[in-house]
Formats: sequence, C-alpha cells, structure tokens
Amino acid sequence: VIPEVGHCLELMDRYRMLPNIREHSLLVGRTAGVIGCGLKQAGVAVDPALAIAGGLLHDIAKSLCLSADSKHAEEGARICRELGFPKVAEIVAEHVFLARDMAPDLILEKEIVYYADKRVLHNRLVDIRTRRDDIIQRYGKGDPTVAEAIRANFEICRAVEEKIFRHLPFAPEDLEEQVHGFVLEESFMGCDRG
Ligand SMILES: [Fe+2]
Repeated sequence: VIPEVGHCLELMDRYRMLPNIREHSLLVGRTAGVIGCGLKQAGVAVDPALAIAGGLLHDIAKSLCLSADSKHAEEGARICRELGFPKVAEIVAEHVFLARDMAPDLILEKEIVYYADKRVLHNRLVDIRTRRDDIIQRYGKGDPTVAEAIRANFEICRAVEEKIFRHLPFAPEDLEEQVHGFVLEESFMGCDRG
C-alpha cells in the first residue's frame, strides 16, 4: 500500500514535522515526482506515486530525532512500517545512505528519493556539490573522517544522477525548471496532470 499525498500531509502533522522540514519534504516529494514521471514516460519501470510518498515522508522522524540526526532514517522507517507502508519504509531507511550497490539496469524508487533529497537544500533546488558542501559544513565539524564519508556518499549520488539522467529528456541543471511546473495534487492521479 502506498499512502496518497493527502495522507502523507496528515502524517506530517501527526508526527509534528517542523515547518522548515515540511517545506523541504514537499520539495523533495515534488522533485521525486518529476523524476519518477519522467522516467516512467521514458519507459523505465518505476512507480511515481511511491517515489512521491517516499519523498514526502523521508524525514517523517526528523523533528522527533533532531538531537540524534543519523537515527532519523531508521526511526522514520520504523514509523512507516508500523503504519503499514513497508515499501515507503524501505525508501525512508535508505534516504541518507543506500544500503546496497546499485542495480545497474534498474532504477529503484529509493534511488530517486535518495537523489532528490540531495538536490534540495532546505527549500531550494541546488546541484549535488552545493548540497554536499553544506552537509560537510553542518555535520563534518572539521572532522576529516566524517567529511570523507560524506564525499564518498556523494560519489555514489553522482553515479545515481548519471544513471537517472541517461533516461530523462532534460539535464540535471534543468531539474529546477521542471519541478517549478510540477504541482503536487492531494490525490495524485498519475503523471499526465503534473
Ligand atoms: Fe533526512
């Protein structure tokens, strides 16, 4: 089962999502929707509704776990599993780090959300390098080991970007324009109306 957009918005309220995280999540959801719809229209087997729900709910536990940031993905996945959304839970669990190597011939919804989250800095679209540097600054705390781990994660992100955009008719730098024109309706009915 995949929760509809309207249900995801209710869950944001129920789990006391802070306004700035809600704004970030809405933009990640729309970004995941643009990518999901673009891939589907290009003939790739992905479910845009699942990518959107994963994008909207990826930080569902963040407001509850602000002091222990690295736990929010796990905690969010637990919440989604309890709510009866195991597919969304898997996406939430891996939105910070992908757990396994990429499937070279497949694009998974969790890769879409992982990537979309790394294009959205607070409430605006940026390139992944800008987002990487922001994360290094906020979480690296001058520790070179942490900074190196973040850099390594963004190398994986760059490979995901390449894989995704091989199928899309627009470039990574044109994503913002696409997202700008994408309205997320409360009951998402598929890609034609976006
Ligand atoms: Fe997150």
